[in-house]
Amino acid sequence: MRSLLVGTWLALLSSRVFAGMPSKIYGVNLGSWLVLEAWMLPQEWLDMGGQSCTTCSDCIATESSFARAYPTTVDQTFAKHWDTWFTQDYVSQLQAAGINTVRVPLGYWIVEALVNRPEEMYPRGGLAYLRRGLGWLKDAGINAILDHHALPGVQTPNQQFTGNCTTDIQFYTPYNYHRALVWTAVMTTLAHMDSNFGSVFAIEAVNEPITDANETPGYGTFQKNFVQTVRAVELVLGITIPDFSSLNVGMSSSNFTAALGSAAGASVLNPAVQAALTDAVPIILEIAAEFGMQSAFTSEGFQSQRSALTTNFMDINWQYDNPPNPANAAIGPQGYDNHLYYSYGGVANATPEAYLTSVCNLNRIQADAALGDNPLWFGEWGLPTQFDATDEFLYQWADAQKYAYSQGAGWIFWNFKTEISDLTNGTALARQWSYLEALKMGFFTQDPAQLNDPNVCAPYINSTSSSS
Ligand SMILES: *[C@@H]1O[C@H](CO)[C@@H](O)[C@H](O)[C@H]1NC(C)=O
Ligand SMILES: *[C@@H]1O[C@H](CO)[C@@H](O)[C@H](O)[C@H]1NC(C)=O
Ligand SMILES: *[C@@H]1O[C@H](CO)[C@@H](O)[C@H](O)[C@H]1NC(C)=O
Ligand SMILES: *[C@@H]1O[C@H](CO)[C@@H](O)[C@H](O)[C@H]1NC(C)=O
Repeated sequence: MRSLLVGTWLALLSSRVFAGMPSKIYGVNLGSWLVLEAWMLPQEWLDMGGQSCTTCSDCIATESSFARAYPTTVDQTFAKHWDTWFTQDYVSQLQAAGINTVRVPLGYWIVEALVNRPEEMYPRGGLAYLRRGLGWLKDAGINAILDHHALPGVQTPNQQFTGNCTTDIQFYTPYNYHRALVWTAVMTTLAHMDSNFGSVFAIEAVNEPITDANETPGYGTFQKNFVQTVRAVELVLGITIPDFSSLNVGMSSSNFTAALGSAAGASVLNPAVQAALTDAVPIILEIAAEFGMQSAFTSEGFQSQRSALTTNFMDINWQYDNPPNPANAAIGPQGYDNHLYYSYGGVANATPEAYLTSVCNLNRIQADAALGDNPLWFGEWGLPTQFDATDEFLYQWADAQKYAYSQGAGWIFWNFKTEISDLTNGTALARQWSYLEALKMGFFTQDPAQLNDPNVCAPYINSTSSSS
């Protein structure tokens, strides 16, 4: 009989670095790998059998419409993509570039049992590639964040990154929150018990929910259930969070899935968490069988040697209209994610000077910290602009953004690479969206901690606004 510790609330201290997390994150996203966005690889997408259209709901422009169009070949076609888009060679290149973190966008469909066929169709087989890729990253000493990027029911309208380009948003419902929690229990289990996942230090709950909190009912409750789900799995594994009030949950089995099943009955857990753990058990057994991990899941002494994962949310200021604060959901280590793209408008006037003035005076880190959302990293950003950017400007634009985001926990560029083809006008797309290409061009320094011009922001910083 072990005791489970479940905490209530932990005041966040400033400048925290958690287990497995680099003291400063210098990262890239592994975008378009396990969640494919056709705009980043337009020629490969056409070669696969996809289509291109201005409104992505009008043609085969996402993984789900592709799977529907090619039900008998979709798995094979995507296996080839997963095998070639991200390889050991890229891991070596990222390692040589000093990248210490990757954020791995994932769809709910990587846990295949969660897909309601035939209403929902997605390629199958991604988990084997995720395991292999994470194994390479672990061997290279690169830390990973598992990012639930494309949620069941779709979390944001009309976006390729959700896997289903639609205006019919169903994520913010009990049924789909439930599926997301089951996904969370499965991924937390793998993060601790599958050695390939050894460098995973964080799980992100929801990538880019709708920014108007009026349109995301129940999201605050979901945040709390997400954290409780991660911690419940960890408590079964014997990973406790210091400084938390303890509550006993009877649990006697040395069989992990049996123990998880019995923990699901613990009345200290919210009913939604209990239901998620219950439904996760058979899925975990299935995955363990598929990948020959039964012994790890059933033998005595399954307790993890690892530390608690960092739970990760988009920051409170991602949303408006009285959003829930994810800081209120924290039990133990938790980090916050903000995304910043100037190219879609609404941030600064479309001139080089306005861009630099804006980013050099960025106050998002302070605004978040004031609400307890700390540490904050910038989990997506890029070099694209609303104007034709000169090379001279891109040196400054890369430097200034790195300067600004490094005031917080660090940065994760979107993306590690993009296609280079006639359809992308050669390097026109990669120059502003591919870390490896921009590094080649010199916009990024070989050491990601450095800047081409350490004083890049000096002419733009407003003395009165920099500490606001
Ligand atoms: C995509 O969204 C549409 C509209 O909500 C829905 O009918 C369809 O089942 C969804 N497809 C998948 C694969 O989820
Ligand atoms: C462990 O428990 C699960 C039920 O959760 C059961 O299916 C499985 O057979 C058990 N394994 C062993 C080795 O007892
Ligand atoms: C490539 O050039 C064409 C013609 O100038 C332009 O319309 C298109 O947006 C460019 N594509 C990229 C990816 O830069
Ligand atoms: C900083 O100064 C510039 C130039 O005076 C001004 O346009 C901008 O609004 C100021 N920004 C902030 C955040 O105060």
